Amino acid sequence: MWLTLLAAALILLLTWDFGRKRHRVAAFEKSQIPGPISIPVLGCGLQALRLGAENIIGWVGEQFDRYGKTFRFWILGESLIYTKDLKYFETILNSTTLLEKGRLYEYLRPFLNDGLLVSTGRKWHARRKIFTNAFHFKVLEHYVEIMDRNSGIMVENLREVADGKTSVDTLKYVSLAALDVITEAAMGVQVNAQKDPDFPYIKALKSVVYIQPDRMFKFSQRYDWLFPLAAPLLRRRLLSDIRVMHDFTDKVIRERRATVERAKADGTYRPLSLGDADIGQKSQMALLDILLQSSINNQPLNDADIREEVDTFMFEGDDTTSSGVSHALHAIARHPEVQQRIHEELLQVLGKDPHAPVTQSQLQELKYLECAIKETMRLYPPVPAIGRHTHKDLQIGDKTIPANTSIYLVLYWAHRDPDYFPDPLSFKPERFLDGQEESHKNFAYVPFSAGPKNCIGQKFAFLEMKALISKVLRFYELLPLGEEIQPMMNFILRSTTGINVGLRPRNS
Ligand code: HEM
Repeated sequence: MWLTLLAAALILLLTWDFGRKRHRVAAFEKSQIPGPISIPVLGCGLQALRLGAENIIGWVGEQFDRYGKTFRFWILGESLIYTKDLKYFETILNSTTLLEKGRLYEYLRPFLNDGLLVSTGRKWHARRKIFTNAFHFKVLEHYVEIMDRNSGIMVENLREVADGKTSVDTLKYVSLAALDVITEAAMGVQVNAQKDPDFPYIKALKSVVYIQPDRMFKFSQRYDWLFPLAAPLLRRRLLSDIRVMHDFTDKVIRERRATVERAKADGTYRPLSLGDADIGQKSQMALLDILLQSSINNQPLNDADIREEVDTFMFEGDDTTSSGVSHALHAIARHPEVQQRIHEELLQVLGKDPHAPVTQSQLQELKYLECAIKETMRLYPPVPAIGRHTHKDLQIGDKTIPANTSIYLVLYWAHRDPDYFPDPLSFKPERFLDGQEESHKNFAYVPFSAGPKNCIGQKFAFLEMKALISKVLRFYELLPLGEEIQPMMNFILRSTTGINVGLRPRNS
């Protein structure tokens, strides 16, 4: 009796599984998209059990070696494609309709809600327009002052470890500096993370951006229905940290809104106007102020609308930039000739006094440093993969990608493919000197993504990376100390061994 019931249940399960996957399996077979062996119900789920933030990048690279530039993967009923084929990059990034993110981005929703990164359709379009003004070069001047001030605090903090012998995990210092920059730029408040890393909002943000991306690689935590059972304490901590973050952002928004109302009442309110020649110097606007003064269809944004965007900027603006800066310091430390050339440029453009503040136009003049940053993001893209989810069959060349598939464009491996970059593993900033950026044109190099959903903060990010790196190099010589990088991915590229350098004060 029990055996019959069990057999019937098994047959039902297999039939249901066959039915839900049939169209996708057929399309993958017809298009001859290869991939690891997939079994009924579980798909490649057993293989997925061995994968995590620490080994996913290496594993994806091995599959490219085995299957070519594109392969498919099943986890239970989810179908995924990983690709470094530029035909896919071009079709997907250029599309104005395929804007929905891959399923893994769902892990961002609990704290970003429907902010710019994950939103689509009219909502995304209207908000994207608002932010275009917020990143106008005239407005960025104000942020350079914030970047410069916080770089100064960072080099002071580094002094305690700058003895020429100690291996320093730069990410720890850079990420607090980047947090101070983005909090002040986004919300107009100074949380002084570099002086007080235990500030509750900072602790909560760090915890949330670690727990949520990590879940996507852990089978037992991956599904929302299983997570409370498999890791109840972790989930409780996550919810409490999200609450701390949201409470803080809500409070800042309320206070800022009240300040704007008061300024309007006493006639001192001066909304952002790009027509003002000196807006960069005069504006003390945070991104939040720009949201507060904006309206869509004549409706001002409410606090919930604003919170999801501010939280998005906090997420996008901190870890990405910290990853870029730390990897650049690591690479520069290991290439003395590059370091020498950057330092000469710094002396020429910024002068001999390392304390002298920098301006936006000076930072823009640092062309060789810019090449070194670009080359860093080629080898170590802060966002190592970009995902989209297709609800319709998608034709790419002669291949049909079936509806309900998530497609991951793996920048990390595309940027290291010898078909796109000769001698791909060598660190050569010269690749990006004028006229040598041909690969941009065919989507081989897309650290900020491309097309309509590209990174809106890329000019901001470049200024910040230049401000932080130049300050470190004006004060210290970088030394090739510490363990090498072991890439790890939880949304953002990190390293299991730290991102290490040594530092020796320059005698200036
Ligand atoms: C080195 C630093 C950075 C890198 C490499 C980077 C990279 C990216 C990438 C690859 C995307 C597309 C993600 C996707 O489609 O899944 C993106 C989107 C975005 N980035 Fe950045 N980013 C950086 C810094 C910043 C900064 C500093 C800000 C804000 C101040 C920012 C704000 C955003 C926003 C709001 C989006 C979503 C845009 C949209 O969907 O319309 N990013 N970024």
